[in-house]
Amino acid sequence: MFKFILEGGHRLDGTIAISGSKNATLPLMAAALLADSPTILRNVPELRDIRTMISVIESLGVKIELNDGIMKIDPAEFYNTEAPYDMVRKMRASVYVMGPMLAKLGKATVSLPGGCAIGPRPIDLHLKGFENLGATVSLSQGNIIASVDDKLKGKTFDLAGTSGSSVGATCNTLMAAVLAEGTTVITSAATEPDVSELVNFLIKMGANIEGIGTTTLTIHGVNSLEGIVHTVVTDRIEAGTFMIAAGITHGYLKLLNVPFEHMESTISKLREIGLVIKKESDYIEVYGDANTFSPVMTTTAVFPGFPTDMQAQLTALLSTVKGTSIVRETIYPDRFMHVPELLRLGANINVMSPTATIQGVDHLCGAPIMASDLRASAALVLAGLAAEGTTTIRRIYHIDRGYESIETKLKNAGAVISRVQDEHSF
Ligand code: EPZ
Repeated sequence: MFKFILEGGHRLDGTIAISGSKNATLPLMAAALLADSPTILRNVPELRDIRTMISVIESLGVKIELNDGIMKIDPAEFYNTEAPYDMVRKMRASVYVMGPMLAKLGKATVSLPGGCAIGPRPIDLHLKGFENLGATVSLSQGNIIASVDDKLKGKTFDLAGTSGSSVGATCNTLMAAVLAEGTTVITSAATEPDVSELVNFLIKMGANIEGIGTTTLTIHGVNSLEGIVHTVVTDRIEAGTFMIAAGITHGYLKLLNVPFEHMESTISKLREIGLVIKKESDYIEVYGDANTFSPVMTTTAVFPGFPTDMQAQLTALLSTVKGTSIVRETIYPDRFMHVPELLRLGANINVMSPTATIQGVDHLCGAPIMASDLRASAALVLAGLAAEGTTTIRRIYHIDRGYESIETKLKNAGAVISRVQDEHSF
């Protein structure tokens, strides 16, 4: 286990390149299983979650390798219909292999993903998608077993859950439907950029899909798909996190490879606070003067609303902005694990789920704190950059799930942060 030791209060000034998107890459890796020939993905980030997905896919008999951001996936030996618990328990997104397994092999046994630090995250909508396509789904000894007698069959159905659309269920249903017989129409589909990236990818492979970027996706089944070469889109959440890093340190960052068109709600919220975000031809400039920052009200929502995956980082920033800010979390109402740790740094936040009321403080003070999940750990790093003195963050394996070389990127921009072995394991 490793921990971060941060010396806060240093103004960031430098250039940071944004990596490939984790949440876009994961479904693409699964979709590559649908092809009859190898796929090459470029701009794949080196992350724990990507390595976990590699292990899951390898366990299905598929050859897969990742070197220097280039991933090769050869599905020639894709015959195994069982994804073991040991792999699936590490990452919920492992369930993405289910759609391709059903579509190509007609059967899928995947462990039901376990608990999650950001609150209950059921997969009922994924299963609803498969059932609508004609699969029989049952649960036995902690495994979901889905199978289809002959081929999946296209149908029109609504995929809405109680909290709206689901990114994962839309992706999984899409992957099952592309090789199904006939036409599938999914209404209440998620419109997040990761879904559109998957739709584009599947179309390049030979799928026939209409309605990209809308809540209604029409999929005309095809008989086969071919492997392709594809460059993964860059990570809008990583980009947003570094924008906040510039703001919280009252610094200046030049960000390369920012997926600007996917970030409207994040950028407009940060501008409302007072950050200056300027789009140049091939980079983004971000800087801010703390004296001009104002408190804001924010509600997380499905795309194009403010992303839940930016909520913790925004909360860290707002805890340093004078006045009262309100953050309402509508996607995961209990996603506030970062708050008790921010309080240890001197923040003043009151949570009545799903709402956090944040009174900005003059300054945060360094302290030993603990990461609980991916975006919470990003928020703690941001707070540590701003806090006076030393902040030690334990359990940073959470941040390695989704931020490529974060300490190197921050160090190159002037942060004082080091990764050291943690003598205590928690
Ligand atoms: C994706 O998760 C992301 N993960 C999450 O990012 C992100 O927070 C989330 O989308 C929302 O944008 C990946 O892409 C790997 P959902 P996903 O299904 O697909 C409920 C991060 O930090 N729901 O859109 O699992 C669910 O409980 C991660 O990178 C059901 O009720 O999210 C939630 O309230 C964390 N039944 C809402 O829908 C289901 O079957 C949206 O979840 C599925 C979801």
